[in-house]
Amino acid sequence: MASSVKDRIQLTPTRSCSSALPEGPWEFDAMPGYGPGSSQADPAPAHTPTNGTSRPNQLPEAYRQMEEAELHERIRSAKEALGERLVILGHFYQRDEVVQHADFVGDSFQLAQAALTKPDAQSIVFCGVHFMAETADILSSEDQQVILPNLAAGCSMADMADEDSVEEAWEEIAEFYGFDPENPEPDAEGKLPVLPVTYMNSSAALKAFCGRLGGIVCTSSNAATVLEWAFERAHRVLFFPDQHLGRNTAKAMGIALENMPMWNPRLPWGGNTADDLKQAQVLLWHGFCSVHKRFTVDQIDQAREQFPGCRVIVHPECPMPVVDAADASGSTDAIRKFVEASSPGDVIAVGTEINMVNRLAADYPDREIFCLDPVICPCSTMYRIHPGYLAWVLDSLVAGQVENRISVPEGTAVEARVALDRMLAAKPR
Ligand code: 13P
Ligand code: SF4
Repeated sequence: MASSVKDRIQLTPTRSCSSALPEGPWEFDAMPGYGPGSSQADPAPAHTPTNGTSRPNQLPEAYRQMEEAELHERIRSAKEALGERLVILGHFYQRDEVVQHADFVGDSFQLAQAALTKPDAQSIVFCGVHFMAETADILSSEDQQVILPNLAAGCSMADMADEDSVEEAWEEIAEFYGFDPENPEPDAEGKLPVLPVTYMNSSAALKAFCGRLGGIVCTSSNAATVLEWAFERAHRVLFFPDQHLGRNTAKAMGIALENMPMWNPRLPWGGNTADDLKQAQVLLWHGFCSVHKRFTVDQIDQAREQFPGCRVIVHPECPMPVVDAADASGSTDAIRKFVEASSPGDVIAVGTEINMVNRLAADYPDREIFCLDPVICPCSTMYRIHPGYLAWVLDSLVAGQVENRISVPEGTAVEARVALDRMLAAKPR
């Protein structure tokens, strides 16, 4: 007898950091946190998503019980029925069972571009996380609709910078540096005192905050270009939510560590002294990715010991000592290209999410490709997109019903678009 999808979910063939991972992701949709996986200790989102929906969303029971083969068959026939009216976008971290149905797979920057290049598709089904779907909604045209198959697919890092905390920090920063927080003016040199830069992994509200205050959005692929853009216009940058991407990028530009203090939103002046703030060039928000913070220099040392001559590439959301110890760092697409450019027989240790690493290993069987972290974990929010949700939203579309639409309010979208257009113009190197 064929097994159900639930029985057959195989995230981690041998080891896993949580025995709950083989469960269907719907088991965790109603939980207050993000469920099993590397971010299991992360708090639940502090805010309601910008589209006004809140968790949990319900996957109909029939789809939970469905056989894997039927789910895939339903996805395929819905795609066929919808034809050019549908485009499915997928992030590299999605599981293979989902990636196989995507029309385009890419990193965050590429997926944002892809949302612009399919104007004929009435529906963009985004197999990724909430902030990516919000971005697609902002960039796509008014008559297109963006659908996130599981509304509980958030990003724990994005939730580390909520709008209120950033607004409060901005007021304190404005008071310290002596500018109007609502309307910062350039000085005699033509530069702003502080310019906000938000990582793509943030809510639409924070992208709008950057748009209206002269700021910009970056992704891991164009962060260096964006910081250069920012320093042409400002004396310093407030970078949120990912301290590691901010630190790694600024360090590579030659900015000294003492000029990039951390801003802890729970402490007055972010936990800094007046001297810290006077010499600051980059104020780094106290945020991080729970998946990438697992990678360590010890793991790199062990990989090099075990496989002399192996090369190590990590995502720039990893802590600075890890990026420094690696041979290279880059966005998910940069990691893919690094592997693509390698030769048969090469050994490559990768510091990023496991679904992507496993796929690279399967695509290049003539090379030894493995994840640096021996206790393998997926991104517990990307993992929430499962073929069951995809089949459900596609079947619904065929029936003329739109489930799980992500719709950023117009005022927010207009301001966020300003910051996103600046991002799209800042090309990855
Ligand atoms: P990329 O932009 O490199 O795809 O990264 C997105 C992300 O969330 C990594 O954790
Ligand atoms: Fe967010 Fe980290 Fe998952 Fe990327 S890997 S979506 S930053 S939690």
